[in-house]
Amino acid sequence: MIAEQVSVHGPCPLRGRLRMPGDKSLSHRALLLAGAAQGTSRIRNLANGDDVYRSRLAMESLGVRVREAVGELLVSGSGWDGLREPDSVVDIGNSGTGIRLLAGLVSGRPFLTVLVGDASIARRPMGRVAEPLRAMGAHIDGRDNGNLTPLVIRGGGLRGQHHHLAVASAQVKSAILLAGLQAEGTTLVTEPAQSRDHTERMLAALGVPVVVDAKLRSVRLEAAALPGFEFTVPGDPSSAAFWVVGALITPGSELTVEGVSLNPGRIGFVDVLRRMGAAIEVVPTGTELGEPVGDLHVTSGPLQATVMEGDEIPSIIDEIPILSVAAAFAEGTTEVRDAAELRLKETDRIGAIEQELGQLGATVRTRRDGLTIEGGTALRPGTIRSHGDHRIAMAAAIAGNAIAGVTTIRGWRGVASSYPTFTDDLAALTGTR
Ligand code: S3P
Repeated sequence: MIAEQVSVHGPCPLRGRLRMPGDKSLSHRALLLAGAAQGTSRIRNLANGDDVYRSRLAMESLGVRVREAVGELLVSGSGWDGLREPDSVVDIGNSGTGIRLLAGLVSGRPFLTVLVGDASIARRPMGRVAEPLRAMGAHIDGRDNGNLTPLVIRGGGLRGQHHHLAVASAQVKSAILLAGLQAEGTTLVTEPAQSRDHTERMLAALGVPVVVDAKLRSVRLEAAALPGFEFTVPGDPSSAAFWVVGALITPGSELTVEGVSLNPGRIGFVDVLRRMGAAIEVVPTGTELGEPVGDLHVTSGPLQATVMEGDEIPSIIDEIPILSVAAAFAEGTTEVRDAAELRLKETDRIGAIEQELGQLGATVRTRRDGLTIEGGTALRPGTIRSHGDHRIAMAAAIAGNAIAGVTTIRGWRGVASSYPTFTDDLAALTGTR
């Protein structure tokens, strides 16, 4: 049971070694691809949060058999045609990735699926997936002409298309690719900037001929059947980022996070922090279904301000809350630009960062697409609201752990979506367990 609020007593150095729960993005994809595959897949280290659990339930409601064995999940698919019309509405909880990827998957199926989520999902734009999937032939309705949930999808009979995305989004790209795997002809997606490429990497590792043109930022594929597979999900770099920043800003810290995905589309935060002066060692250890994996080693040290902007933003989009905490502890003024997408996440993260870092005494100014954070002023403990957003809650806990005094985070329960065991890991690293 996750507490409704937690209090963090700082400053407390973070020391030791730890492994992250499986990456959330990879876990959603593993469940969806395994459910559409022909045969049984064995998945280890699946993400342990509610978001991914909802994707598992969704696949079960589509007729996929999922069993828990010792240390692994067995997912038995019967191919695309083995998927069945759900008996009831599919509730995806808080998960934007879950709902958008599932929209792509069921758009290829000749039956009715109704996708809903929580109050945050009800505010997030779905037109960005509904429109391209409609262009391929799916019938999609919902509030605001299909821009808002519930999404009512009658799929099947898809034709491949060339899609030019207006914003770099791996969720949208992946939804289109999942539909494209079931469409007649060629599906091509071109992005304005490179977003995370997990779906392409996994499909290629499963033997699907996916053509990626890095220069044009395009991905092309045709219909394909998927084989069952074995996959040990690499640790979540977005979760690791909290500990890396926590160690940097809390004097006396030294820690190693083992076995995380080192996908370049995910570890942009390491480049940003190194630019800020951080000592972070990256040690590659292997690959899993096309994903590079390795360890991150970090020691506390002073940070300087930086600018985050342009094509770098998609590779740090989920880390901007915790990078903003790093900026508040750095010397100088940090700028975040070109990040309007942050306003469309689990909450408006630009507004949430301004308010909550402000509670801790930081000076933060916002624009439509970014933030200015004045670093170097001594922060004070305070009471933080999570805005129902797991990453705001955890970023606040990491800031609180570095500040002298007691910081309280209200609405802590939101961490259930990605990292329910965060407080256990905090206690282990601070030696308070
Ligand atoms: C994700 C893509 C990103 C990211 C989200 C996970 C994914 O969203 O913010 O947490 O797994 O594809 P967008 O596709 O909206 O950029």
